[in-house]
Amino acid sequence: MKLSSIILSAATAVIIGFTASQPTTAHIADKEPIGLCIPLPEGHAPTPGPPTTHAFVTFPKYSELAINAAKPDNVPKNYQAQFYNASGATLYPSAYIIHFEMTSYNATECAEACNAVANEACRGFNTYIERAPTKVPGPACPNPDPTYRFVCALYSDVLGLKNTDNEGGLVEGFEVLERGSNGYIRGL
Ligand SMILES: *[C@@H]1O[C@H](CO)[C@@H](O)[C@H](O)[C@H]1NC(C)=O
Ligand SMILES: *[C@@H]1O[C@H](CO)[C@@H](O)[C@H](O)[C@H]1NC(C)=O
Repeated sequence: MKLSSIILSAATAVIIGFTASQPTTAHIADKEPIGLCIPLPEGHAPTPGPPTTHAFVTFPKYSELAINAAKPDNVPKNYQAQFYNASGATLYPSAYIIHFEMTSYNATECAEACNAVANEACRGFNTYIERAPTKVPGPACPNPDPTYRFVCALYSDVLGLKNTDNEGGLVEGFEVLERGSNGYIRGL
């Protein structure tokens, strides 16, 4: 992967004003130096103890949240859980519509956003938890402290596990990672 097109993810990309074409493909280096090291708001997902990547990938709570959100009672009406508890977010640029941060792991909220897209253009969505930086990583603030975000991303096509290739990336020493990734498809 080219360093100049390294990945910064999801809600973070929105917050720092990238109109990302895909949740995890903001091209930081291309945008330099605008906004480097600016603080980013704390996410709403629980903190897995120490700020290490190991703590993030092994925190059982993220799996519990994702598995719970895939239970029949929690799958939004008119949707089907296609995969759950995956470790990568969806990477499907040609079908990407938009993404935003949620305050809880809430598939219903994400489904409502999908339903609100005009012309029934939204066909599915991906919810996940992301390890994101608390500052836009830059040479002057490498590997900032992490925060943890609930993300909803909408797509114009059905999603499958085959699309969950987005396993984050390294930005100025900060490792963006995803956990608890669920995919839902809409019945039309
Ligand atoms: C959920 O995913 C995690 C990895 O993120 C894995 O360790 C765990 O075994 C999975 N749990 C289930 C029930 O699939
Ligand atoms: C999930 O989102 C729905 C729709 O926005 C809302 O009605 C519900 O209260 C939310 N649930 C939680 C636990 O936040």
